[in-house]
This record gives sequence, structure tokens and C-alpha cells, in this order.
Amino acid sequence: MATLATSTGGSIRQELTSLFGASISSTFPDAGVQPSVAQTNDPKFGDYQCNNAMALFAKCKGKEGAPKNPRAVAEAIVAGLPASDLVESTTLAGPGFINVRLSRAWLGRHVGDMLVSGIGSWAPRGQARKRVVVDFSSPNVAKEMHVGHLRSTILGDCLCRTLEYCGADVLRLNHIGDWGTQFGMLIQYIADKRPGGLSAAEDEDVADLQVLYRAAKARFDADEGFKAAAREAVTQLQGGRPEYLEVWRRICAASRAEFQRIYDRLGVELQERGESFYNPRLQATVDALVEQGVAVESDGARCVFFEGRDVPLIVQKRDGGFGYASTDMAALHQRLTEERADWIVYLTDAGQAGHFEMIFAAGRRAGYFPKDREVRIDHVGFGLVMGEDGKKFKSRSGDTVRLVELLDEAKARCRTTIKERRPDISEEELEEATSAMGYGAVKYADLKNNRLTNYRFSYNEMLSMQGDTAVYLLYAHARIAAILRKSGKDVAELAKSTKITLGNDLEVALALHVSRFSEAVEEMLTDLYPNRLTSYLYDLSGVFNQYYTECQVIGTEEEDSRLLLCEATAVVMRQCFHLLGITPLYRI
Ligand code: ARG
Repeated sequence: MATLATSTGGSIRQELTSLFGASISSTFPDAGVQPSVAQTNDPKFGDYQCNNAMALFAKCKGKEGAPKNPRAVAEAIVAGLPASDLVESTTLAGPGFINVRLSRAWLGRHVGDMLVSGIGSWAPRGQARKRVVVDFSSPNVAKEMHVGHLRSTILGDCLCRTLEYCGADVLRLNHIGDWGTQFGMLIQYIADKRPGGLSAAEDEDVADLQVLYRAAKARFDADEGFKAAAREAVTQLQGGRPEYLEVWRRICAASRAEFQRIYDRLGVELQERGESFYNPRLQATVDALVEQGVAVESDGARCVFFEGRDVPLIVQKRDGGFGYASTDMAALHQRLTEERADWIVYLTDAGQAGHFEMIFAAGRRAGYFPKDREVRIDHVGFGLVMGEDGKKFKSRSGDTVRLVELLDEAKARCRTTIKERRPDISEEELEEATSAMGYGAVKYADLKNNRLTNYRFSYNEMLSMQGDTAVYLLYAHARIAAILRKSGKDVAELAKSTKITLGNDLEVALALHVSRFSEAVEEMLTDLYPNRLTSYLYDLSGVFNQYYTECQVIGTEEEDSRLLLCEATAVVMRQCFHLLGITPLYRI
């Protein structure tokens, strides 16, 4: 029988919330209380708990015919609950907590239905607005993409995947820094090196952008004449001088190729829309802000001031030039109007939180936000990546770590581990397994931390086979895959004809935890913390281990039903991996 919970794609908690909501609004129509349902920590108290009675009592107290105490309120709520095959029983506890025990038959059916209709049927709906712009990764041209950008890339990709899973139309934007003052310096440096004319500039000039950047920067800092020439070169570039534009294009192309190598390895898709895209809009954007009185002249510059902040948002510099903030204002406007975004998410280091607060506030003052729809806007900040010693993350030689080398190293270390366990593995399979594990480990180590804390990059920790690592989880998944293989049965086919029967507490606990996947996704979208999903996944593997230690699967009377529980666990684990951007392994 189709139930509401599966047909709407909502989570169990959502389903219970609407049941309690219906009861509360019919029993206490004037209270204006939002139903609140949570998972219980201890199965002793049932599976979920509704905590509204106490607050409702406080609201009704003293009114005519009001219940005598919170417990009486709870009783009234329970009496008003609509009939549902999801709830097996309710009990009252303490001053007025309502504990809910789910029907075991319903739970088994719920998991079985998912196996037939696919994990897509468990995607929570309603939270992911339709059109979502996610601005992430966003490295700067001609500068090395550093670990901070890696963090933005990994976190951003995970959020995009989750939003996509929930049915959103996601625009993944790479807001690369391709229009800053650094270009004047680079172009002037190349111009000096090639007095014969810039058209002769060969790609070798831009082959190693880090080297070029360093050399140009050293000269910029040491040579006043060069500095002045570099400033003039920026103005000429922005004015559209053709040979300068050509060099700019070459530099961008070389950077783009370098960034793309990282994205390809990590399996991250991004659409490039760099700062230069907004250049033609900057003057009009700033003029409009001034006309509206949102920006004012200050010391020759044009600024937006905010109460309680000492530094304003500078939208046009004294020399008429535009900067980071001008571009972000134009980008915000473009995303709200032309892209018609319902939700915009920016991922950068936490240090930029103040910048984005000002951008959002200025946008509100200037009337950028539409009247016909509600828009959610978030800056998703994150902490720094530190070295194993807790200091700034550097390579052995003291330079910034090149991301390609970092990823190579993670892979190389996995190679040894896998070869030790499977000496006969084919080269092709080994390559696949090392990529999945190496990149998976780097991503997982980043995602599992609360994003706001600084995180310590340690190969040893992230590649450990024990504990909360991708390696451990990939092994756990492969072990379940092995059980399913060993059964010799087509488990997907089996799901169509066999019911899942939850005969003991461990089976119930596993089915319940599997079902809570939707809630983990929901929670992650509430405040955009991917570590909610990683800790769900890690717990799932723990609950499965307990189940598997106690419940023999193959060769028992319950074999078919238990195989289906194994399959459901594997399906959910794979979906978690997918959302985290990790490739699952079936055999390691
Ligand atoms: N390029 C910037 C940096 O490296 C990040 C850009 C973030 N996006 C934005 N719209 N400002 O810090």
C-alpha cells in the first residue's frame, strides 16, 4: 500500500510532523504553535517524540476550558491524531512528551518500497528551492589554486549534488578571479620581455603561471617604474587594447586548463563565469546605487555604509576603478534578475563573511530582491586548512602545496595498501580503486569536519582503515556487496516479490537508521553542514555492523528479508557516497 511518506518523498519526521500538525491545529486552533517532532536518542522512548505539549499548555493557561496540565494537553493531541498506518503506538512520558513507536510492518514496507522505486523516492522535497545558484571553487587566474579553493570545491560540489538530488535546478558557477589588477603586472612583465611586440608572445610565457606570477610580483614590489607601467597596463586592458586583451586571454586559457585538471580528477562540474563577465555592467551598477542614495561619495570613492561597521563597502575606488565588491554587486543583481534565482549560495573562507553580509544588505537596500518570490541567500564559510603540525599548510620545501601533487600523493599511498591486500589485482582495477580511495579520502576528511573549524590535513588520518574515514566506509560498503554476491541471488529482483520482515531489535534499528537517510539530507540543507551527512553515514555503518554480527544472513530462514536489508543499506551508503562526491567500490 502506498503511504503518504513514500509518495511525497518526505522523511518520516516530516510525515509525523504533518500528522501532529493536523492534530494540533484541530485541537488547539488558536494556539499558533508549529508542530515539532524529533528523533529519540534512546529506543526505550520509542522512535520519535513530539514536544509541543509544554509550550501549548503555557499558551492556553488561564483560558476557559484549558487543559489542567501539559500532560492533559498531550493526551488531547494524541486523541486528535489522524489515523495512520505509520504509527503503531504512542506513550506519554515526563511532563508531557509524546513518544511515538513506528509500525514495524510499515517500516519494513517503507524500506522495501524504496528498493523497488529507487533511492530517488526518498529525496526530501520542499527545502530545495527551484532555481539555485551555487558560487564555489572560484580560484584566481594566474595564481595557484590552493587548498582553500579545494575546500570550496569539495564543499560546494557536495551541496550542489544534494540540491540536485532534491530536485533543484542548480547553476554551478565558477566565479574565477580573472579581472583583477594582477593582470597589469603580468601583461607588463611579458611586454618588457618581448619588446618585439606582444603578438609574438608564445605560450611558454604562460606555461608555468606560478613562476610568471612570482617573477612579475617580485619586479612589481621592487621597481617603481614597473609598478606605474603595470597600473597603466590595467587601464589599457580594461579599455580594451587588443594586444593586451590577447595576452589576457592566453593567461586565462592556461589557468583554465590547470584548474580543469583538478576538476576532472575530482569529478566536479562547474560553469565558468568569471569576474570579467560582469565588467560591462559595473559602471551602470554603481551609478544606479549612487542615484538611489545607497552608495555615497566618501573621500572621492563611492561607498555603501552600514550601521555598526567601521569599514564601508567600496563599490568604486577613488581612481574610478572597480574592485571585488563592485563585481559582487553586479553579480548579485544578475543572478536575481536574469537567472531568476530562488536561492543563492556562496562558498568561501569564513574570513569573507563580512564582505558577503554587506553585499546582501546593500542588495536589499537597492531593491535587488524580487517581490514576487522569496529568495534565500547564504554565505557558507569555512575554516583554514592546516598542516599536520597545526601550522599553515605547506609543502616540504615550504612552498604552497600544488593540488595536483596533493592528489597524487593521496593516490600513491592507497596504491600500496590495496596492493598489499590484493596482490593479484589488475592494473586497471587498481587505478580505479586508488582514484576512488585517494580522492574519496581527501574529500571525506574535509566534509566530515564542521566546516567552520580549521581542519588539519593528515594523510595518515584520512587513509586509516579504522575510524571515520572514506577508506573504512568504502571497505564497509564492499563487504556488504560481497555478502550480496555470495548469496548468488538477484536482490533487485527479489525486492519486487519479497517483503522485509523486521523480526528483532537489530533489524528494526537498521531499517530505522536506513530510513533516516532523508532526515540527514534534510538537516544538511537546513544549515548547509555536510558533516551531518558524513556522521549519518558513519553511524549507518556502525548500526549495520551490529546487525551483521548478530544476525546471520545467508543460510537462514530469514535470508531473503535480511538480504533486502543489506541491499537497502548498500543503496543508501552509495547515495551518501554520491552526494559526497565519492565513487563507491564493490570489491577491495
Ligand atoms: N576568487 C575569490 C577568492 O579566491 C572567491 C570568489 C568567491 N565568489 C564571489 N562571488 N565573490 O577568494
